Amino acid sequence: MIEQPPRFSDLESVRTSLADINYLADDGIAGVVYLADRLGKPVLVEGPAGTGKTQLAKSVAEMTGARLIRLQCYEGLDESKALYEWNYKKQLLRIQTEGDGASWSEVEDDLFSEEFLLTRPLLEAIRAEDPVVLLIDEVDRVEVETEALLLEILSDYQVSIPELGTVHARQIPLVFLTSNGTRELSEALKRRCLYLYIDYPDLEREREIVLTKVPGVDENLADQVARIVRSIRQLDLKKNPSVSETLDWARTLVLLGIEQIDAKTAIDTANVLLKYRTDIEKVVKEFAENPVELTGTGTGTGTGTDADT
Ligand SMILES: Nc1ncnc2c1ncn2[C@@H]1O[C@H](COP(=O)(O)OP(=O)(O)O)[C@@H](O)[C@H]1O
Ligand SMILES: [Mg+2]
Repeated sequence: MIEQPPRFSDLESVRTSLADINYLADDGIAGVVYLADRLGKPVLVEGPAGTGKTQLAKSVAEMTGARLIRLQCYEGLDESKALYEWNYKKQLLRIQTEGDGASWSEVEDDLFSEEFLLTRPLLEAIRAEDPVVLLIDEVDRVEVETEALLLEILSDYQVSIPELGTVHARQIPLVFLTSNGTRELSEALKRRCLYLYIDYPDLEREREIVLTKVPGVDENLADQVARIVRSIRQLDLKKNPSVSETLDWARTLVLLGIEQIDAKTAIDTANVLLKYRTDIEKVVKEFAENPVELTGTGTGTGTGTDADT
């Protein structure tokens, strides 16, 4: 068991330190990060796309001054890209340059030594001497069988290399796995992790995120943006606008010099917020029919029911 001092003194300090680098966490998020450190356990972060899962790992790395090592998962990812592989070309060269003198067993020992090992992100994280945060991003994209590659690392912070032996971590890194929930992950993987579900932020937090991340936005616009996005998420769309799209929309509005969103503005810029034609049509229709309700501007600004077509 590796003994190491805790990184955070309490939950509140996690939340404020993250806020200092512009990641706004609620107590649920900060609490899991705090526990991950204290318990020495990886965190599995699930939730809709664009809700800050990847950014959480990046921000925790920044906050703790650790190096971020990222394994981006995709269908077909295998051991040689995730863990390590032998440098086959260099091994061949080694064999070719070998004189007749050496015995095969000498050559073989040499071929499977450090010199010919190519480390990939998982092994790199385990071997790191400096503090690291390991991000295993979008783990739901790999096949279930490939998940098995992760189990030894997640529970024991070690990697077994048949030709070399077992490599143990010198420190317990903070590990984040993210999933967009496109499939269920294995029980074995879940059992090894703390679980964190990141949903769309509540109104206040989304407004704060907009204020923090969008230069030139004022309180009133940020508030309106957060409210409208929130009501759009109630519309049963194919793809809800995520925090990334909220931010894009707010930046767009600032660029256009908009101070108050009316139905026409919302309709004209709906394509920044939504990525499916059917969703855009649905939202445009809603805005045309219920402009006051959706934009929250009921005070006779002249953008009433028939001014928006
Ligand atoms: N709590 C938050 N505080 C600050 N920015 C956030 C937060 N949540 C999301 N974002 C922003 O939203 C965008 C999408 O986040 P990302 O981590 O890529 O989403 P995911 O990995 O969940 O798909 C990023 O630009 C990120 O900065
Ligand atoms: Mg992501």
